[in-house]
Amino acid sequence: MTGTVYGLGVGPGDPELITVKALKRLRAAPVVAYPAPEQGASFARAIVARWLVPVQIELAIRVPMESARFPAEVVYDRAADEIMGHAAAGRDVAVLCQGDPFFYGSFMYLFARLGERAPVEIVPGVSSLTACAAAARWPLAARDDALIVLPASLADDELERRIAAADSVALIKLGRHFARVRDMLGRLGLAADARYIERATTASQRVLPLDAVDAASVPYFSMILLHRRGSAGA
Ligand SMILES: C[S@@+](CC[C@H](N)C(=O)[O-])C[C@H]1O[C@@H](n2cnc3c(N)ncnc32)[C@H](O)[C@@H]1O
Repeated sequence: MTGTVYGLGVGPGDPELITVKALKRLRAAPVVAYPAPEQGASFARAIVARWLVPVQIELAIRVPMESARFPAEVVYDRAADEIMGHAAAGRDVAVLCQGDPFFYGSFMYLFARLGERAPVEIVPGVSSLTACAAAARWPLAARDDALIVLPASLADDELERRIAAADSVALIKLGRHFARVRDMLGRLGLAADARYIERATTASQRVLPLDAVDAASVPYFSMILLHRRGSAGA
């Protein structure tokens, strides 16, 4: 019988923020796959390291971070074939997804390749969006608020247009875009309505006002939450 592929949300960083369901599926799977940078350790794997079982076969999917679309597609094609090989041999495969699999998660690229070839079950996870709100002790949205999630890689005019239409904003994928976004929020008079959150729920979590952040050391795992005064209880 064909094995099942599980897209497991493993949460934002704290190993205890994995769901009971994802933990059960993880520990029962003979094969565990996870995204990883070209060199170095996988964050998703690190989150669940304490829960792994020694006999599990591990499959690191090494994705070039700044890749053109073509090489990344080759990586996902190959990973999907490898995962499919295990599933065809009757082995369940747990694919680890930092946060939630379908909230900007790379699992969706595998799902697009495997969804019709094998049984796939998606177990949602605690996303960085809710984790950062909790870390900042700042409700995300309330009542009739419109909440929008914006990748910081969007151009300034696009960001400005979309921010103007929202009460509550999450700016993700900050990294090298931080200084540009901070300056833009300053120009719009919104800097005081924003909080910076780095590595939420991990031991190195930081929550700061924008003017206290060193732009040169902003990691990929960071976001800005913004509430116009008067929204979300702000
Ligand atoms: C490709 S998205 C993946 C999101 C993930 N699937 C989720 O559900 O949270 C990566 C972005 O999520 C945000 N992020 C993920 N984990 C985070 C954390 N622990 N603290 C702050 N931001 C985080 C950052 O903005 C990062 O650039």
